[in-house]
Amino acid sequence: MSLVSPVISLPDELSQKSVKLGIMASGSGTNFEAVAQAIADKQLNAEIKVLIYNNPQAKVKSRAEKWQVPSVLINHREYRQREALDQKIVNTLQEYDVQWVVMAGWMRIVTKVLLDNFPDRIINIHPSLLPSFKGINAIEQAFRAQVKITGCTVHLVNLEVDSGQIIMQAAVPILSDDTLETLHARIQVQEHLILPQAISLAVNNCPDN
Ligand code: GAR
Repeated sequence: MSLVSPVISLPDELSQKSVKLGIMASGSGTNFEAVAQAIADKQLNAEIKVLIYNNPQAKVKSRAEKWQVPSVLINHREYRQREALDQKIVNTLQEYDVQWVVMAGWMRIVTKVLLDNFPDRIINIHPSLLPSFKGINAIEQAFRAQVKITGCTVHLVNLEVDSGQIIMQAAVPILSDDTLETLHARIQVQEHLILPQAISLAVNNCPDN
């Protein structure tokens, strides 16, 4: 259940600009799957050109295989400096002709190297109502703070962690019998709804895309 659902009307798929996406993910990949499904359902006019993942064991890789999306492992442990890691990521995104980048559970801090190559074209999803509960373990932070409402945010990425321009949010109440797991599950339901919509909003409102 969401307390506040985004109430906006999006253009139908045919009147949306088509966009070539690169998705970066570190974990399970349910948000990757939500974007792929929205494209298949013609709710989002996009193509996922490549998945970049940084953990060899990440489940998201098998989701990419299922959707026949090429995936590239770029393991951060092999790079001493964040800039070198980001340069490798940029090279890969350019090789796959990516226009917009979506961080769908990417758990690394990004540098100017990535930002300068995709200015205002990097989107992140974060499991809290920003600007509250930035950083890691955002769901747990909200749970421990005993707030009554939390949620998720899709925003543009800038150099400050979880601080770029907000594109879309959904609120999720914390119920008295919630556990971290039940809360996490309800937040993810909302993430899967707003991420494809937010991608469409950002791309279609960008004048020189
Ligand atoms: C999502 O809940 C996303 O909001 C979070 O990682 C999860 C990835 O789930 N991102 C962050 O915490 C970024 N700071 P998924 O792998 O199932 O898409």
